[in-house]
Amino acid sequence: MTTDGLTLAVSGLTLGLTRDRRARPLVEDLSFGVARGEMLAFVGESGSGKSLTAAAIFGLLPAGVQRIAGSIRVNGSELTTLSERRLRAWRGRDMGLIFQNPLTALSPSVGVQAQIAETYRVHKGGTRDAARARARALLAEVGLKALATGGDSYPHQLSGGMRQRVMIALAAACDPALIVADEPTTALDVLIQAQILDLLARLQRERGLAVVFITHDLRLAARYADRILVLYAGRAVEEGDAAQFFTAPRHPYSRALRDAIPTIPATGGRLTEIPGQPPEPRALPAGCRFAPRCPNVGDDCRRTEPAMTFDGTRFACLHPCAKMS
Ligand SMILES: Nc1ncnc2c1ncn2[C@@H]1O[C@H](COP(=O)(O)OP(=O)(O)OP(=O)(O)O)[C@@H](O)[C@H]1O
Ligand SMILES: [Mg+2]
Repeated sequence: MTTDGLTLAVSGLTLGLTRDRRARPLVEDLSFGVARGEMLAFVGESGSGKSLTAAAIFGLLPAGVQRIAGSIRVNGSELTTLSERRLRAWRGRDMGLIFQNPLTALSPSVGVQAQIAETYRVHKGGTRDAARARARALLAEVGLKALATGGDSYPHQLSGGMRQRVMIALAAACDPALIVADEPTTALDVLIQAQILDLLARLQRERGLAVVFITHDLRLAARYADRILVLYAGRAVEEGDAAQFFTAPRHPYSRALRDAIPTIPATGGRLTEIPGQPPEPRALPAGCRFAPRCPNVGDDCRRTEPAMTFDGTRFACLHPCAKMS
């Protein structure tokens, strides 16, 4: 994979609980890139490694989980070798992280204007007045005009949708190159959800941001993302252009995910379910991890772990679905 010109380039990322080679990693040999002005969606069932990958990019892995191998570059700079102090400068200034629950990221006892202004001043310097003006402009830009004028408000005084807009303003405060949004709208109703994602997509276009959008909801990925990366039990199983992905996914897991999308109006038929559960990291099957649930499974799948191959999209499967389905 060429990393020239990519805002985010992740290569061979492997995360695990121990360096013991017999233990299976939680995320294994993951490679992907995101260009300026592009949105890549991560999709995959719970436990597939989406949040751990996001945490690794920011150097915020939970205690006990370590990066065993792999490179993470933002605008060409390797982040994995930076000291904690230098990485802290990158976070917030060059890359912003948006979580599902903004209350965990916002300080409860500081007004939101003040929080955005402080983030801006820490990274960019300047006077308090200039930082406060910048905070107000950002709040207006994310559609919170009432919070941009007048006195400051505390996070607990705001609705969930307003808080998530504040998080986006905070993440975008220093004009970062990259924003990673980990299920930013899962707790919100569908109308607010669309408003928040429209806002993120607008910033992506207008500011040329690279965005990684992590979601359980393939419909949102279809609507907003340029490219899709499907994760299964810690490995990438397919990556490709979003439009092509939804017309002709090649990996049977991707196709099962796509076919599980509810459509409106309801056809009266039952939704297609994916039988079984993803494997636990401690109990991965030999060969392809999806083999025990796969409709296309052959004997070879239980012996050989398929490598990523390129044929229109990148996918890792010995018996892929037809090119058009
Ligand atoms: N702090 C931790 N300690 C040990 N294992 C962890 C830790 N955090 C995550 N894991 C394991 O790593 C795997 C990937 O977890 P991750 O949180 O990245 O999943 P996810 O794809 O974000 O899932 P979800 O859709 O539920 O948010 C899971 O098997 C999980 O049990
Ligand atoms: Mg997660």
